Amino acid sequence: MKPLGRLRLGVNIDHVATLRNARGSVWPDPLRAALLAEAAGADGITAHMREDRRHIRDSDIEALQAGLAIPLNFECAATEEMKAIALRLRPHAVCLVPEKREERTTEGGLDVAADQARLTDYVGELTMAGCRVSMFISHDIHQIKACAAVGAAVVELHTGLYSEFHAKERFSEAEAELNGLRRGAALAHSLGMEVHAGHGLTYDNVGPIAAMPEVMELNIGHFLIGEAVFLGLEGALDEMRRRMDIAREEIA
Ligand code: PXP
Repeated sequence: MKPLGRLRLGVNIDHVATLRNARGSVWPDPLRAALLAEAAGADGITAHMREDRRHIRDSDIEALQAGLAIPLNFECAATEEMKAIALRLRPHAVCLVPEKREERTTEGGLDVAADQARLTDYVGELTMAGCRVSMFISHDIHQIKACAAVGAAVVELHTGLYSEFHAKERFSEAEAELNGLRRGAALAHSLGMEVHAGHGLTYDNVGPIAAMPEVMELNIGHFLIGEAVFLGLEGALDEMRRRMDIAREEIA
């Protein structure tokens, strides 16, 4: 199968805020990073405002929504508080994720199937307000079907497990996980949803994800911000884009 379109790169700038908050100061500024990423060719910016505001804060989301020319993907838990913020700011996209206070990062996918009735209303309200709603889920078939049932426009498949196996050089498990992601991407597309992917992606593991023809967008944060320490944001993005393009060309 040929790719469905150009693969977009969304840059998650949460960890610029992590660095700022480590000193309780105003540097480095997440909006400045987002504008640099925009200038370097990012197709969108993702920011996850957690309930505990451990990195991105309300003022960051406001500044990003006001200052960016490229789309903002507002990542949040499906709470009433976050819905009110999204309905007020109306970002291009809202990505709903599970959130646990004790976790270091978003560990699993959202359990859409278990919360279908509530999420149908939740997604409906945001969609009516003009936001593209994306559900961050595992590649489980029931979850993908539940996303279609609640009316989500987009699913973002969680690549964290694949990335973890890859990093530990457990390649057969990584390959099994890739196969699950491939099946999930095909199913989600067949149900009429756009497919995104993200979590734990690096230069070394991005290729097979970028080579999935249904995948239209990757959202990458921690690795890119870390790499920017050495190469600058432009250098880090250029290299990621290059690797994504190589993988995409191979299936074109
Ligand atoms: N997509 C979603 C929905 C996420 O929650 C995260 C992590 O915040 C990412 C993408 C990016 O993951 P990473 O920072 O590991 O690249």
